[in-house]
Amino acid sequence: MSLAELERKLGRRFARLTTNAVVARPGLWRAFRWLTRAQFDRLAPSWGAMRRPEAFAALELALEAVPVAPKRVLDLGTGTGLAAFIAARRFPEAEVVGVDLTNGMVEQARQDTPPELAERVSFQQADAQRLPFEAGSFELVQLANMIPFFGELERITADGGYLVQSFSAGPETPIWVPPERLRHELGAHGFTEFADFEAEGGTALLARKSPRD
Ligand SMILES: C[S@@+](CC[C@H](N)C(=O)[O-])C[C@H]1O[C@@H](n2cnc3c(N)ncnc32)[C@H](O)[C@@H]1O
Repeated sequence: MSLAELERKLGRRFARLTTNAVVARPGLWRAFRWLTRAQFDRLAPSWGAMRRPEAFAALELALEAVPVAPKRVLDLGTGTGLAAFIAARRFPEAEVVGVDLTNGMVEQARQDTPPELAERVSFQQADAQRLPFEAGSFELVQLANMIPFFGELERITADGGYLVQSFSAGPETPIWVPPERLRHELGAHGFTEFADFEAEGGTALLARKSPRD
C-alpha cells in the first residue's frame, strides 16, 4: 500500500470514529474539531476531482420529493459546493447558502461556482455545531456526507420545513449514521414524516420539521 493510500484509509477511519463519537456525545466535537478541520482543509484542492458524478443521486431523489419549493436552502458541510449547486438547479428561485468548517473548501467552492448560479449561491465558513443564523432561517437544510448536529438542525430549520441527510456510498460512507439512529435523533428534535431514498449505492433520508400549531 502506498503512503497516499494509507493516508486516505486512516482519514476515512478517523471520519467514521469522529461521526460515531459526536453523534453519541455532541460535546466531544471540541476534541475532534481541529483535526477534522486540518483533514478537510488539506483535501480541498483535490476534493471535486475525487467525487463520482453519481455521488449525489440519492440526494437528488430526496430533493425531488420535497413538495414545496424552499425560499432559502442551507447546505451544511458543503465541501466544494457540489450539493449546493444541485439544490440551486433543483429550486431555481431559491437562495442557497453553503457552509463549511474549512476556509480551503469555502474558497474552492467559490471558485467552482458556475457563473449562472453566482447570484443565488454563496458560501461561508462556519461550524455546524453553532451556526450564525437566526432560528428558522431555512425551509430546506441538506447534509451530504456530513456529521449531523441535531440541536442546531432543529433550531435553524423553519417550522414545517424540510431536511435531507444523504450518504453517497450508504453504509460504506466514512461519515455515516445508521438510519435508525438518524430517525431516532431527528424524531427527538422535532422532525417527522420520514422518507427513504436509494440510488447508485447512496442513501438519503427526507424529514419534515413539525409545523407549529
Ligand atoms: C465528507 S465532506 C463532504 C463534502 C460535500 N458535502 C460532499 O459530499 O462532497 C465533509 C465536509 O464537512 C465539513 N465539516 C465537517 N465538520 C463540519 C462542521 N462542524 N461544520 C461545518 N462543516 C463541517 C468538512 O470540512 C468537509 O468539507
